[in-house]
Amino acid sequence: MRILMTGARGQIGSQIRKMLPDDWELIATDSKTLDITHADSVENMLSVFQPDVVMNTAGYTNVDAAENDLEKAFTINAQGVLNLARSANQHGVKMLHLSTDYVFDGTKYTPYTESNYPNPLNIYGKSKLAGEVAALSANPATLIVRTSGVFSAVGNNFLTTVLNNAKQGKAFGVVDEQICCPTYAADLAAALITLVRDYPQMRGLYHFTGGTALSWYDFAKKIVTAAGLDTALVEKTDSTSQATRPKYSVLASEYDIRLPVKTIDEAIAESLAALQE
Ligand SMILES: NC(=O)c1ccc[n+]([C@@H]2O[C@H](COP(=O)([O-])OP(=O)(O)OC[C@H]3O[C@@H](n4cnc5c(N)ncnc54)[C@H](OP(=O)(O)O)[C@@H]3O)[C@@H](O)[C@H]2O)c1
Repeated sequence: MRILMTGARGQIGSQIRKMLPDDWELIATDSKTLDITHADSVENMLSVFQPDVVMNTAGYTNVDAAENDLEKAFTINAQGVLNLARSANQHGVKMLHLSTDYVFDGTKYTPYTESNYPNPLNIYGKSKLAGEVAALSANPATLIVRTSGVFSAVGNNFLTTVLNNAKQGKAFGVVDEQICCPTYAADLAAALITLVRDYPQMRGLYHFTGGTALSWYDFAKKIVTAAGLDTALVEKTDSTSQATRPKYSVLASEYDIRLPVKTIDEAIAESLAALQE
């Protein structure tokens, strides 16, 4: 299997690279070696390498910054995805693309499945939804995996941010009014590899997250407790972030596919252990 991966230095791309089966060939690209907003570069890369699958882990991912950066968010998350999907379609190549729980407005309060209608509240979510539509219309051989709250020991994510704050010994606020399912990057990477290998005919939308729904505040408490730091430093706060986020964005799937996930406590413990290596 020959994979062309975009955004390979990002949190999810890095995790997939670590776990890719040895007999798969990987062409790993980052924003310098393949800027997905350049249609000609995308087309050239597919022509030269002739991959079996394009795995798009590139994206504009700063949810708050996107509020003042609409053009860039849409250029990367919609036009860039369209470029990839068009070229993939021309070459008869499947595309695996990542999207987000933030395509939903959070007013449902029961888990969102693939058939629920999206209604994003913020620019990031709108740009990701535009990317979904672009990918599916330009290349029917596209599988879009929506996920949420990805964490690991690597990069800037909720777990590493909470730990950095707690280690400084100063109180910090975390919102309690937004419920989601945090997703361990290693579980997601394993799931994506399985989907490519064992479900080659799968198309359309698929929801994959960790198995525990909880608030960001409760998640922060779990992380700080597991790290043996002072949980009193974690304080409940109202959201002051620029982007409006859904109050409830738990995802569930209508597909009867069993993809393993660690419990949230196991995933936190594994991340903390990796940070000490
Ligand atoms: N992390 C989450 O909680 C989460 C949740 C749901 C969905 N997702 C989706 O999953 C995907 C990957 O997320 P992540 O957490 O791994 O993000 P990340 O760590 O921010 O990585 C994204 C990568 O995209 C690259 N990139 C940005 N603009 C690009 C361009 N024009 N051309 C090529 N590469 C470009 C970045 O490279 P540079 O650093 O070189 O710019 C970066 O390495 C995104 O589509 C995101 O929307 C993530």
